Amino acid sequence: MKIGVFDSGVGGRSVARAIGRALPDAVVVTREDRQNLPYGTKTPEQLLVLVEPILSGMAAEGCDLIVIACNTVSTTIIRELRAKFTVPLIAVEPMVKPAAGSSKVGIIAVCATPTTLASRRYNSLKRRFAYGVEVLEPDCSDWATMIEANQIDHDVIAKRITEVLDKGADVIVLGCTHYHWIEAEIVALAKGRAKVLQPEPAIINQVKRVLGQLT
Ligand code: DGL
Repeated sequence: MKIGVFDSGVGGRSVARAIGRALPDAVVVTREDRQNLPYGTKTPEQLLVLVEPILSGMAAEGCDLIVIACNTVSTTIIRELRAKFTVPLIAVEPMVKPAAGSSKVGIIAVCATPTTLASRRYNSLKRRFAYGVEVLEPDCSDWATMIEANQIDHDVIAKRITEVLDKGADVIVLGCTHYHWIEAEIVALAKGRAKVLQPEPAIINQVKRVLGQLT
């Protein structure tokens, strides 16, 4: 089985590593679009132009399924992509439902790119699953770029996370796969005050489910 993992940059590598560990017999191939990063400030129209040829290449290469390891792409153009490709596409979206469902105080924080936060899909997830829950959206607009460049301003991360903790959030969602690389830092900042959710276990379950349907 060949599993493709696509993202604008290093976020996909974190997801690919998790899938590779969970499914050691699978071949995991990654594709990135670093020259056009960040995706998180682009429009859905711009994203479609960039992503379509990359997925075409992955499909031609024989991927049995492709994980769109990019919340920005998944929340904006997954429908258009699914209409164009027959290979199963697994979408990665901010974990609004489990976060809202597990918050004891009814306040959650979603860390994501500006394009994800503005997307119709993300806002529909909030309406459906976080009704009556306060959803804080800290400004993470520069995080993907600094993580990609490995020039992380730890004070900026600490400031934004501390702000949402001080506003009472008891669940923090990592809604951009780049942020998986700073998960340990965020978990340490949130220790004893909030739990941190990221989607890799759910992605692995979904990959297993889809592979099961293919065999
Ligand atoms: N890793 C991508 C995501 O999950 C976006 C990073 C970027 O802005 O390029 O949203």
